[in-house]
Amino acid sequence: MPLHLIGTGLGDETDLTLRGIELIRQSDAVFLESYTSIPCAAGFLEKLQAITGKTVEPADRYFVEDATALVELSKVKKVSLLVVGDPFSATTHSDLYIRCKAEGVDVTVVHNASILNAIGVTGLQLYRFGQVITLCFWTDNWRPKSWFPVLEENIRRGLHTLILLDIKTKEVSDENLARGRMDTFEPPRYMSVHEGIAQVDLVARELGSKCINESSRMIAVSRLGSVKQQILHGDIRSWMARTPAEVADRMGEPLHSLVLPGDLHPCELEHLLTFPAV
Ligand SMILES: C[S@@+](CC[C@H](N)C(=O)[O-])C[C@H]1O[C@@H](n2cnc3c(N)ncnc32)[C@H](O)[C@@H]1O
Repeated sequence: MPLHLIGTGLGDETDLTLRGIELIRQSDAVFLESYTSIPCAAGFLEKLQAITGKTVEPADRYFVEDATALVELSKVKKVSLLVVGDPFSATTHSDLYIRCKAEGVDVTVVHNASILNAIGVTGLQLYRFGQVITLCFWTDNWRPKSWFPVLEENIRRGLHTLILLDIKTKEVSDENLARGRMDTFEPPRYMSVHEGIAQVDLVARELGSKCINESSRMIAVSRLGSVKQQILHGDIRSWMARTPAEVADRMGEPLHSLVLPGDLHPCELEHLLTFPAV
């Protein structure tokens, strides 16, 4: 029996491909992976069910990363795992693919739009991007900065950097962990544009960066690929002159990402400037 890995695209249920819908309809069990990304559209799961006539179960991190239940089920039933965006824009699904292959389970892949290609709507050419980085939420005693040399290296090479922002779902707080309450979860958190830019600004200052400073341009996107997408640009100074609440008001609901452009070709700049400044 196969496991179908089906990308849903970034917007709403109308972005599913006809092939994706057909495979879901043929499936005995359907899951919607809900921790590497989230649907932009409200009521997405219910609308998926209405279109396909199938019950769709949310699949959390533990279910997908452990993969045992998913692989075992795929040995005896036709299973679809739906991934918001494209299945291979998160390393987790590559692990699952390898695991299936090792255990003799066929995998069908249905691709769809991803943040990794939809970011081209900003006008920045996809072939001029360097390595993607992800910013994580900092805690009192964990403030990773290992992404910063990558950002600087991209800039030095004139390349653009797509900066993904952390998502935290189904997290157990330290207090609940200490009390053994493993099934009490914190509310989901999605890093905002303001928090991401503030982190880049702070690390650039702390490390005395020669190529990233408050004059560096930063492009922010939210809910890309949906009808409610937002794209704003400005230098770090202008972003930081706004309060977190003001930026949140402009950018709206998650998910958010950033781009630190490298050298901009005049055509890229002309396209970018069609979007409003912060
Ligand atoms: C693991 S990546 C995305 C994987 C997803 N499967 C895809 O193909 O786009 C998750 C991060 O991508 C960014 N992201 C995903 N969808 C987005 C969207 N529609 N608009 C803006 N950022 C998005 C966010 O920064 C989010 O934390």
